[in-house]
Amino acid sequence: MTELNQNVHLLPQTQQLRALQTIIRDKSVSREDFVFYSQRIIRLLIEAALGLLPFEKQDVETPVGEIYRGLRFYSRICGVSVIRAGETMETGLREVCRSIRIGKILIQRNRETKLPHLYYFNLPSDISKRHVLLLEPMLATGGSALAAIQVLIQKGVPEENIIFINFLSAPEGIAALFERHPRLTLVTSSIEERLNEHAYMIPGIGDFGDRFFGTDAKSLVNEVI
Ligand code: URA
Repeated sequence: MTELNQNVHLLPQTQQLRALQTIIRDKSVSREDFVFYSQRIIRLLIEAALGLLPFEKQDVETPVGEIYRGLRFYSRICGVSVIRAGETMETGLREVCRSIRIGKILIQRNRETKLPHLYYFNLPSDISKRHVLLLEPMLATGGSALAAIQVLIQKGVPEENIIFINFLSAPEGIAALFERHPRLTLVTSSIEERLNEHAYMIPGIGDFGDRFFGTDAKSLVNEVI
């Protein structure tokens, strides 16, 4: 692997994380377990991303009358999810940031040109003054991520204020992202080996959105509801 940009934050590859990854990478896992264990990893990713935001100093008096010189969370943040798979990360984000504003971006590949096309976005009006947690679990070629980042930049969000929270990433996607946006931050739980000829990650996880929402062929055959 070529040297990674210093803004790429790979979660520590602990045995705990590898055990969680093993469950959801298994093609025979139930959808219930897929959702449950992927949400656990998403929670780890979100906590890691929140730790990269700026903090402000805050002193508090403890119950024994002493001053604790602590820190306060930075509050000018928002989430932006890339429809549809990015929406799987919204619950994890809301569990830790209860009233966070969440914008949406819909990008789909044009069937003829194969290029990502922006269909819709709805973002907080003051987004340019916020740090943005961009939610998109799969970074394969980087096409849709780059299109989403382009929308944020056009809305005035500085590149260095974007934290891209991502589940699995391909080296090809990371290279494409940082070639265009070297000051972006990426938080990911795994850097995969490569992409296959269908732009799926190897060893990968299959189609994340389909497995999470139950729209893959396997779920349709095996599940009644
Ligand atoms: N999107 C997915 O859901 N999985 C991949 O491996 C690549 C893109």
